[in-house]
Amino acid sequence: MKRFFLFFSCCLMSTVAFSQTIAAESGNTSEVAASTNIPSEIAIIPEPVSVVKNDGHFVLPANVTIQSPGNPELKQVTAFLQERLSIPTGSYVSVISADPSAGNATIRLVLNDKANAALGNEGYQLSVNSGHIVIKANKAAGLFYGAQSLIQLFPKEIESKELVEDINWKSPCVDITDYPRVGWRGLMFDVARHFFTKEEVKQYINAMVRYKYNVLHLHLTDDEGWRIEIKGFPKLTEVGAWSVKKTGEFGNFSPPGPDEPRTYGGYYTQEDIRELVKYAQERFVNILPEIDVPGHSLAAIASYPELSCTPGAENYRVRSGERIMDWSRGAPPTALVDNTLCPANEKVYSFLDSVITQVAALFPFEYLHMGGDEAPFNFWEKSDAIKALMQKEGLKNMHQVQGYFEKRVQSIVESKGKKFMGWDEILDGNMSPSAAVMSWRGMKYGTEAALKKHEVVMSPTTYAYLDYMQADAITEPRVYASLRLSKSYEFDPIPSGVDPKYIKGGQANLWTEQVYNIRQAEYMTWPRGMAIAESVWSPREKKNWVNFFGRVEQHFERLDIAETKYAPSVYDPIFKVSRSADRQLLIELSTEVEGLDIYYSFDNSFPDRFYPKYTEKLNPPKDAGMLRVITYKGKKPVGRMLSMPIEELNKRARK
Ligand code: ACM
Repeated sequence: MKRFFLFFSCCLMSTVAFSQTIAAESGNTSEVAASTNIPSEIAIIPEPVSVVKNDGHFVLPANVTIQSPGNPELKQVTAFLQERLSIPTGSYVSVISADPSAGNATIRLVLNDKANAALGNEGYQLSVNSGHIVIKANKAAGLFYGAQSLIQLFPKEIESKELVEDINWKSPCVDITDYPRVGWRGLMFDVARHFFTKEEVKQYINAMVRYKYNVLHLHLTDDEGWRIEIKGFPKLTEVGAWSVKKTGEFGNFSPPGPDEPRTYGGYYTQEDIRELVKYAQERFVNILPEIDVPGHSLAAIASYPELSCTPGAENYRVRSGERIMDWSRGAPPTALVDNTLCPANEKVYSFLDSVITQVAALFPFEYLHMGGDEAPFNFWEKSDAIKALMQKEGLKNMHQVQGYFEKRVQSIVESKGKKFMGWDEILDGNMSPSAAVMSWRGMKYGTEAALKKHEVVMSPTTYAYLDYMQADAITEPRVYASLRLSKSYEFDPIPSGVDPKYIKGGQANLWTEQVYNIRQAEYMTWPRGMAIAESVWSPREKKNWVNFFGRVEQHFERLDIAETKYAPSVYDPIFKVSRSADRQLLIELSTEVEGLDIYYSFDNSFPDRFYPKYTEKLNPPKDAGMLRVITYKGKKPVGRMLSMPIEELNKRARK
């Protein structure tokens, strides 16, 4: 992420209309319950392809037996079920490998002898009867996803990390058939802007697999840090992984002084990476590594200044959040320090060859992401080396210079047996269709790329940027754009008019400039990560906002028990301002979800449901300085108390 000046208010406005349309089209199992506010007994996210609810319940016995074919790749399937069914319940859970007596097991994991074509590699059939449970799949991944759905059928307390007393541990009887809409269901975690430890990355993986994500894109390098050990280039992690710790609003920090300690950061050793890859693999997650070049490379240049075209780069330091780009004229930005690798320098390609060789060996995933976004050109324009390269290669402009660089990097990546992937700016370089494209500046570039027969992963800012604010800027850590849950839920990774075979899937991206810790990373990811998960897993025709939000509310309670943080921002009201004919300020309040009441005050006190209820546009009393609002669902406060200065609303009305 970085700067893509888009919408803000337009996405807020589309919400209400969308929710009304979708409610009328409901076909979901739990629709009636959701629309009447009675929690449904079945609240699986992402919504399965087919759910048939039968009479009766399965009651978890005191001793549970899981029958598993015993293949090593099923280790985590049984471990996951064992953990969830024993820790909160106190049940004794044993695992037996398949044998004739296995017919009596409580939970039976079956790998189909003859593949069921409809299920593919990740689908499953889950059958819960009053006496036992059967999960069938063609592959281990399908059994893992079946196990995730099964756990979501039990009461929310099943998520507990400790023993829970006096719960009636039962699941409704169901027959579920389920498989994903697309094969690439990704989350990107930026561990470069702020470093997240190996254990925190594992925690992130544990949360993502409950929603059936299967790709973790790790953004490993940027201006603020180089996070992966590369043998032969020790300074990348001795120098490039460390900045000055600053607190406040990233992007506007004071430039660090020479004496401020550079002790903030960290990196993964190659052993750490192997451990993470294995951890992810056991949970059916591929890790996509990203080395972001030629832009976003200040950490590499601070370590090895000879990789830059710019004289004086030896004075550069890893960024600590001070301003280094001028975005006032849009993209590409004007760099205040040159954060690009030099496309005219052969040393850059031998450096990248070493990096790519090691990264390719560490990560078994078939793709390697080489960035390519937001490279500023203003320093290249001044470089004699670049001018000479342009002449030699017949390059007419800086886009072609970047294209030259990307093609050389692509051939290095392919020489290591990997597929090259880059952000959609690489399309400017006229790449061959063998380059895969991650479309972030909306759906448009991904659509264009698919028409040119590139493989595409859709991760548009419009729906899938998890660093954007989830509600009004008055409450959220300030970022320059907003993306509400309901807008994320509109994400459809497959645009009309393209051959779907070129769309590998979809992904949500968590950039972390403003995310300083793992709790905030979770807050930014959930619940929007649920919306994206449903967009990439569930059939398009089953998507239904009202139904979805009913399930999200149940998952909020599950996440509370799992101690995973999420944003309650969806409950916060939306402010819209206008002027009356006589220039009075008018304040319109609305909510993203149905069925909430908004109470307000202008007298600086804290409203509750005994205060005035919002029914029509408000005109603040002449001397009022503050509007405070809170949402309720019946008698229960659900939104946060928002304090909105009238001056701020006047400012917005002037725009
Ligand atoms: C990006 O957000 N610059 C890929």
